[in-house]
Amino acid sequence: GSCLESVKIAIDTGYRHIDGAFVYYNEHEVGQAIREKIAEGRIKREDIFYCGKLWNTCHPPELVRPTLEKTLKILQLDYVDLYIIELPMAFKPGDAIYPKDENGKIIYHETDLCATWEAMEACKDAGLAKSIGVSNFNRRQLEMILNKPGLKYKPVSNQVECHPYFTQPKLLEFCRQHDIVIVGYSPLGTSRDETWVNVSSPPLLKDPVLNAIGKKYNKTAAQVALRFSIQRGVVVIPKSFNPQRIRENFQIFDFSLTEKEMKEIESLNKNVRYVELLM
Ligand code: A2P
Repeated sequence: GSCLESVKIAIDTGYRHIDGAFVYYNEHEVGQAIREKIAEGRIKREDIFYCGKLWNTCHPPELVRPTLEKTLKILQLDYVDLYIIELPMAFKPGDAIYPKDENGKIIYHETDLCATWEAMEACKDAGLAKSIGVSNFNRRQLEMILNKPGLKYKPVSNQVECHPYFTQPKLLEFCRQHDIVIVGYSPLGTSRDETWVNVSSPPLLKDPVLNAIGKKYNKTAAQVALRFSIQRGVVVIPKSFNPQRIRENFQIFDFSLTEKEMKEIESLNKNVRYVELLM
């Protein structure tokens, strides 16, 4: 229920972009929150921008549309605003989200990303997704799609880790050239959950530069980190289940960083990921 409450608070606060996924196992709560806010008359469906994700076990083209339809059924919505391929690597299809062999090794599955993409295009044509994109794609993987013979729709966005300690300058420039929006995940440096986060990289929000700049504007390090990203054209998807921090993370439109401060924060880049995706 904490997701349901958080999404409702977020919508009341003014958030409209909601980043979801089947593998977060809370799409039913997100859908309920959106529907309740529509019923209250606070928003219309078209005010919301919901992003859903195609999981690794669903890359075979014939699985793409049924997988999106399952997400829509859980959300109880007619369409998603954006549907993205969550990761460029495919796992063996089936009920196991992380299919493993007897040695505990992930079982991969041979698929053609371009064929998966064509199935994504068909979802857009069917009106089930307004836009389609990708996530965790590097330049080579993006080029595979962009150079696909008969490409119908380019990916509109690429969701990747992006924040002051991992600024992605080269990928950002490549995506800019191709009109692909970078959506930055872990914009606050993650929850530092050791089961999936590389905690050898120091905590972002303790950074002295972010905190010093924040002091100048009466803002927190989190607000400075988010402002930095949006000011360089990176979409941010901060996660919080705390009402006060949900509101705090929205108070980033009433100040701006100087060019010098932007450069200073850019120079914090360590080129080290928190989310290593070791699979
Ligand atoms: P919580 O949900 O308790 O607020 P990211 O968006 O980079 O994945 O970071 C999410 C983590 O950052 C969560 O652990 C979240 O905890 C925490 N968090 C979210 N907003 C803030 C904030 N404004 N200040 C400090 N920590 C925050």
